[in-house]
Amino acid sequence: MIEETKISRIIKSEDLNHHGTLFAGRMSEWLVEGCLIAAIKLLGRPEDIVCVRIHGMDFVRPATKGDIVELKTRVALLGKKSITAYGKVFVNENRIPSVTGMTTFVTVDKSGKPYAHGMSLSEEYIRENEEIYKMAIKAKNQR
Ligand SMILES: CC(C)(COP(=O)(O)OP(=O)(O)OC[C@H]1O[C@@H](n2cnc3c(N)ncnc32)[C@H](O)[C@@H]1OP(=O)(O)O)[C@@H](O)C(=O)NCCC(=O)NCCS
Repeated sequence: MIEETKISRIIKSEDLNHHGTLFAGRMSEWLVEGCLIAAIKLLGRPEDIVCVRIHGMDFVRPATKGDIVELKTRVALLGKKSITAYGKVFVNENRIPSVTGMTTFVTVDKSGKPYAHGMSLSEEYIRENEEIYKMAIKAKNQR
């Protein structure tokens, strides 16, 4: 079973932008890292994973110093050589995500050449995660 990856962070002074709210660049870094961890947990070989696409990220609400940020990421789509993960970010246990985004990785060998990872999602997993699966398929088809 592919599990959700959960990471918590506290927002510190160095994470803020010139408005005094969480800097989008920092948030993007955390979200990409969360998606990467979801991909690594599945493949098990961090050295074989490179990022090829950070999909559009939506920043819906600001967060500020002292807020607790919880990132929840999970695999949304497995292509032949690609792994796409989707992430949601919740602030202070708010039930509506403050940030959402998706990242695509490719499996590469030691020389950086892409290879087929041989993994696929079960029908049950796709059914349970239909919304993000469809989102990832749509993004793939739009390339
Ligand atoms: C990873 C890399 C070797 C892939 O090369 P490539 O020639 O595009 O590989 P392929 O055409 O065989 O595509 C492999 C898969 O990646 C997907 N892919 C490639 N580029 C993509 C992109 N920009 N967005 C989404 N998917 C992408 C393809 O659709 C394919 O998916 P599939 O196997 O599910 O069908 C090459 O793009 C690369 O080295 N990129 C730099 C990676 C890097 O340095 N990342 C760190 C970021 S700073």
